[in-house]
Amino acid sequence: MKIAVIHYRGSPTTSAQELLNEIERLGHTPLYLKIHELDAYIEENHVFVVRFRDKIDIDGGVIRSIGLTITLDTFMKRIGVLDALASYSTLINQPDTIMYVRDKWRSLLRLALNNIPVPNTLLTENPYAAKRYCERKNILVYKPLMGSLGLGSTLVNDPELAYHITRSLLNIGLPSYYQVFLDKPGYDFRVFVVGDQVVSAMKRVGGSGWKTNIAQGARGVKIEEKDYPEVFELAIKTASILKLDYAGIDIAYDMGSEKYYVLEANAFPQWQGLRKATGENIAYHIINYLIEKIKK
Ligand SMILES: Nc1ncnc2c1ncn2[C@@H]1O[C@H](COP(=O)(O)OP(=O)(O)O)[C@@H](O)[C@H]1O
Ligand SMILES: [Mg+2]
Repeated sequence: MKIAVIHYRGSPTTSAQELLNEIERLGHTPLYLKIHELDAYIEENHVFVVRFRDKIDIDGGVIRSIGLTITLDTFMKRIGVLDALASYSTLINQPDTIMYVRDKWRSLLRLALNNIPVPNTLLTENPYAAKRYCERKNILVYKPLMGSLGLGSTLVNDPELAYHITRSLLNIGLPSYYQVFLDKPGYDFRVFVVGDQVVSAMKRVGGSGWKTNIAQGARGVKIEEKDYPEVFELAIKTASILKLDYAGIDIAYDMGSEKYYVLEANAFPQWQGLRKATGENIAYHIINYLIEKIKK
């Protein structure tokens, strides 16, 4: 079978390269596709995707990124091209799923409506709403609506600062996303789900202050299902509700309410930190799952 890894980068990242290697090792033909090089056509109701002059004829593919700092139009174009490609091949994650999971609010909303515990959160364009929310909840985490790697998130415990942030963002056309700060015990959880299985899970300990992302310097420590059954169950339910074929689910324990909360689901999770902590070959699980899905 011909299986693609799709990214925006000129050359494959470590995780993209691992996927390409696994495709080959399992006896299939790997293909690296740069998303901006793809065009989509409708000809007499026949749909196809082309790279330069060649029709993309693949059995399946793993989408690893849509691109950074792109306009809404370019984001829509890339999702649109992937949608066209998904009409005649098996892509993971599915383009529709990527579209709403990329947005922290819409994925959290869907989880909340499906009875998954998520932190109290406000989405607004109103500086006064931000100020009042901070007055009521005391400590908030401001997060970029479409951010990742913990970059750009900040603690806000002054209502005037919440007002100022939202007001300033409004001037450059950006909305605000505030979440109630959870009192974590110095770590949180990253659970990697493929299909309906957890393939690997860790605690992320330390990091830079309150952020326990691996990208922020946290250290991964392998965990087992028998010690954290609730965390494993929440992660599997989350991936299933969001229709993610593979995902990195972030879960935190709050010492105040003594409960677990889902912080976010990542449709393009990295796994270097997880691989180092658990020794698990994540790329193998993803490719193996994709091959089985193509065969169905
Ligand atoms: N509401 C919160 N309360 C406490 N810590 C949080 C909260 N939200 C996020 N964090 C911390 O910040 C990290 C990054 O937040 P997350 O929502 O996963 O965004 P991203 O990883 O996309 O930047 C989390 O792993 C967690 O350690
Ligand atoms: Mg995260």
